[in-house]
Amino acid sequence: MRGLGLSQPRPAVLKIGGSVITDKTKELGVRMDAISRLADEIRDANPKNLIIVHGGGSFGHPIAQKHAIKDGFKEESQIIGFAETHHVMTVLNGLFMDALIWRGLPAVSITPSSCIMTKNGRIMCFEDSPLKQLMKMGFIPVLYGDAVFDTELGFTILSGDQIASFLAVRFNAENILIGVDVDGLYDADPKTDDNAKMFEHLTLEELRKIQGRLGGSNACDVTGGMANKVAELIPAVEHGIPVLIVNASKPGYVYKALKGEKVKGTLIEKE
Ligand code: IPE
Repeated sequence: MRGLGLSQPRPAVLKIGGSVITDKTKELGVRMDAISRLADEIRDANPKNLIIVHGGGSFGHPIAQKHAIKDGFKEESQIIGFAETHHVMTVLNGLFMDALIWRGLPAVSITPSSCIMTKNGRIMCFEDSPLKQLMKMGFIPVLYGDAVFDTELGFTILSGDQIASFLAVRFNAENILIGVDVDGLYDADPKTDDNAKMFEHLTLEELRKIQGRLGGSNACDVTGGMANKVAELIPAVEHGIPVLIVNASKPGYVYKALKGEKVKGTLIEKE
């Protein structure tokens, strides 16, 4: 078969945050209404060449945290914790896949722990031939933040944001859409600070300046909150790939973003 031809549009990468599709106040609390609505929006937008990545929310984070999976293998008791963390992610992914497939979307799940190895938490190798093949054939690959094997740590947690940024660079994506549960990127946490101001547009230079002021991790987020999300996206922006952060908890935003229509959010561009 031919390689990824010029006739094929550059892919868009859509990352849906775990806080959108799960209820972070309840362990293993799924928001089926949000999953169904997002699947409707993706079907209606009918994007050509889309890569979907979703987060862990109240499925991945609490179990990963309980067993300190991100810090790597230290004791035997973590082994079952790794298995549980990976398993609950496959359960959440299954619910997402159900919603996509029963709407007629040719989505195929790609399990990060089976094709990615990290080195000290950074993606070191990614066996991407199946992913390339399925994109070439018009399928929609769906990946997720996962418990993965690490050459130095034994294992760790790989965030969906790192996967999204990595894939965007590797496949020279048109853009990255990040769906979160707030309207965009703020100078303070909008959930706790009424004076928080949202950025509508940021250049790479501006983003680097504000990075230190962005919210860090909360109790139930092992991959580091907004500040880490932004840090993960920087390599893609450096590569010239624009990133749009929108509110995926509000109906219609992801649809509009996928259609390229104007939508409230934070646009981050190289210049
Ligand atoms: C986390 O992925 C995956 C696990 C904890 C296993 P993300 O870091 O992408 O998840 P969210 O979007 O913050 O919930």
